[in-house]
Amino acid sequence: MRKNIVAGNWKMNMDLEKGLLIFNEIQQLIKEEVKGNQEVIICPPYIHLSSLSQLVDSGTNLSIGAQNCHQADSGAFTGEVSASIIASTGASYVIIGHSERRLYFSESNSLLAQKLDSVLENGMAPIFCIGETLEQRNNETYFEVIKEQITEASFHLQATDYSKLILAYEPVWAIGTGLTASPEQAQEIHSFIRNLLADKYDQDLANNMTILYGGSCNPKNASELFAKSDIDGGLIGGASLKARDFVDIIKALN
Ligand code: 13P
Repeated sequence: MRKNIVAGNWKMNMDLEKGLLIFNEIQQLIKEEVKGNQEVIICPPYIHLSSLSQLVDSGTNLSIGAQNCHQADSGAFTGEVSASIIASTGASYVIIGHSERRLYFSESNSLLAQKLDSVLENGMAPIFCIGETLEQRNNETYFEVIKEQITEASFHLQATDYSKLILAYEPVWAIGTGLTASPEQAQEIHSFIRNLLADKYDQDLANNMTILYGGSCNPKNASELFAKSDIDGGLIGGASLKARDFVDIIKALN
């Protein structure tokens, strides 16, 4: 059965003290809210991963994820963090291919393919992000762009591995801009992605894939987005930094 997920990407925000505070608040507030096939994921900066993992109450559908990883397992890569190190903190997810990584750190589809492998080899699930820029939206190449991102970075995976992935459609023009994709625009892409998966793998895998929407998702627009048949939750940036807003988005899953 397809999982519904709301994940918070804190990006480069929150010192440890604030992070612990908001994490505890979220955990308290969602106790009664998160049902069987729903999950909440919090992706803090690397250095909070271990502290937050230790605070997760057993029996809650709350998990911790990282925002990136290096593709190698270990070695002389000063300042980098590998998937095996992330796994050792208790985290179970890693965001891969966020548009900010693609843009500011020149991450290519072929590099992202290696990162996806590394996350899976270390027993975690990638949250793999794809999405077009404003220019690509305006010149109507966005279907090709998304197809290329998915094909080049992830279609080397076997179906058993692919079924562990979570996909996140994040149009770059909607991230941090207040310009949310309309539910119809997002649904069109989510359904396109599901069809790509059905063609490459099979209909069952495609039906069971969780596909999140990200980009200026907030408590006001979340319900309408999540009501669409191929939108299975959200990857939330700005609104995940306030416990109440984040929890209101989680409630929109119901
Ligand atoms: P915003 O919700 O701030 O637009 O960010 C979305 C995002 O990039 C989540 O990964």
